[in-house]
Amino acid sequence: MPVTKVQPFVHADSELVKGWKNRIILHRFQLLIASSLILMIFLVLGIGLGVGLSCVGKVRCGSSSQCVSAMAQCDGTMDCENHEDELGCVRLSGRSSVLQVQKRGEWRTVCSEEWSNQLGISACKQLGYSRYVESSFISLTSIEQDLQTNLISINYSQAEVIKLQSAATFSKNHCNSGMVTTLRCIECGSRPQYKSRIVGGNISKPGQFPWQVSLHFQREHICGGSIVTSSWILTAAHCVFGFDNASLWTVHAGLTEQLINGARSLAVERIVRHAQYRQKELDYDVALMRLQEPLVFDGFVEPICLPNYGEEFTEGRMCWISGWGTTKENGESSVVLRSATIPLISTKTCNQADVYKGLISPWMICAGYLEGGIDACQGDSGGPLACEDSSVWKLVGVTSWGTGCAEVNKPGVYARVTKALSWIRLQIEREEV
Ligand code: ARG
Repeated sequence: MPVTKVQPFVHADSELVKGWKNRIILHRFQLLIASSLILMIFLVLGIGLGVGLSCVGKVRCGSSSQCVSAMAQCDGTMDCENHEDELGCVRLSGRSSVLQVQKRGEWRTVCSEEWSNQLGISACKQLGYSRYVESSFISLTSIEQDLQTNLISINYSQAEVIKLQSAATFSKNHCNSGMVTTLRCIECGSRPQYKSRIVGGNISKPGQFPWQVSLHFQREHICGGSIVTSSWILTAAHCVFGFDNASLWTVHAGLTEQLINGARSLAVERIVRHAQYRQKELDYDVALMRLQEPLVFDGFVEPICLPNYGEEFTEGRMCWISGWGTTKENGESSVVLRSATIPLISTKTCNQADVYKGLISPWMICAGYLEGGIDACQGDSGGPLACEDSSVWKLVGVTSWGTGCAEVNKPGVYARVTKALSWIRLQIEREEV
């Protein structure tokens, strides 16, 4: 019967199919093992390479591949090839500019005993200033609590101190004098040529914002900037992104009206953009310009103070913005320097769903009115958000971005200068030593 003939045939066929299936399964199994092996090798290699390159438990020397132990940081001996481990070892902290020295990766407040002007000059140098104004001493108990705990004094025995951290003695928990050191390196944040009469509208008077500069790219105003030392201008990274050829920029200082043919222009020597700046998120939106010739301060041209480490500027505080930017969205830029006073907005408020919905990073600070109406606009970028602190002006923000201009629930966003401090100091110190 055809059936009996067909049956074994079918049977044989299914045996054959089974064999094939087995072989295919085996093959797949082998493939799986092989690919996971390859994956493992890549993973191990990747992790190994990552560990090798990421200096685990150590600190990288600048952008090189060299790593040194965290304890080698600010220990007074140069371990990195380019001495990066001995940079950024001094800072000014809190409301009263208390001097702190980093020793082996830890920040310590400097007691007043054995302090001298000579040490003051060294400290200012390490902060990136070629000058020094004064040191003064205040009682340990009058400063912020978190600055009171880790103390140090400077043992000044060498004829010439090169770096403060190398003269810093052992850590202690009280100052013999009961006093700590505060430091001033630059006369900044004052307006010696500004006679405050009633300001007509929002057009600025000469000398009202003497730290404000206009940055021209190929003879055209592009952005604002702020004078932080006689040789350095702080601006926004997005102003120079893709335009970092220093020779095409000029800096105009001490003016309120835009000049037709840039008479008082200063050449730019170098532009440093924050390495983590990303065009998409506009995070780390800061850049520095180094001038070829230093500025002369005369009341119409003056530096603004940088805030200190750990200083807080709280919501509702009134500060000033200024610039030659457009007076409405898609408008023309202004011929005269304009200014406005606006309140700071907390990141919590600014990140609300109806405002910027989580776009505000720790490196940003919002300021303006949620009801709209007053704001910075195109062309104001890079310029100052400045706050007056008992008649000293401090740079709190760098004009960065916003959705439209002066729109409801879309206040201005500024790069947060207290976050950028160590980066700024590092760039300047690196150049000045
Ligand atoms: N990105 C602008 C500039 O390049 C500044 C925008 C500020 N916008 C604002 N709404 N606050 O000039």
